[in-house]
Amino acid sequence: MIKAVYPGSFDPVTNGHIDIIQRGAKIYDEVIVLVAENVSKTPLFSLEERLDMLKEALKDIPNVRIDHFSGLLVEYLKKIDVKIIIRGLRAVSDFEYEFQQALTNKKLYPECETVFLVSDLKYTFLSSSMVKEIAKFGGCIKGLVPDYVAKKLYEKFNIEMENEDR
Ligand code: PNS
Repeated sequence: MIKAVYPGSFDPVTNGHIDIIQRGAKIYDEVIVLVAENVSKTPLFSLEERLDMLKEALKDIPNVRIDHFSGLLVEYLKKIDVKIIIRGLRAVSDFEYEFQQALTNKKLYPECETVFLVSDLKYTFLSSSMVKEIAKFGGCIKGLVPDYVAKKLYEKFNIEMENEDR
């Protein structure tokens, strides 16, 4: 049984993340979606809120498990005896950061491998930060995040969802 961990902030989960998870779940027997801490980001949603949105978004994929961890990703990998990290690559601009992370994780845990899945073309521009910014100003985020996540975003920013397009 080959398992892989897909770590991220998921603040909140987007359709781009879900696409990577669905594809990862076809490659590996189990994908563990891990909400981890990115020290350079201050999340909008609490850990519980992010886990709740992931649970709702991924409820139909049987071989996906959701977990959270505070600490080094490699320590989590060792704890659950998994050696594969999945990351999505959207554009060249992601590369430097992802390359640095992959090499750092490899230095800390030489047995681990980072596997990159190239983002679907329709999600190459999509990021959680972009979605938050659009939602904050009441813009349309349909097709970018699941409806449940869109609802939570508008609630967070106290924006009425009277417009069907939102
Ligand atoms: O969705 P993000 O913010 O790009 O995910 C980044 C994340 C959370 C995967 C990364 O910051 C991480 O692995 N955090 C755990 C702490 C850690 O292991 N840091 C060193 C990895 S370079």
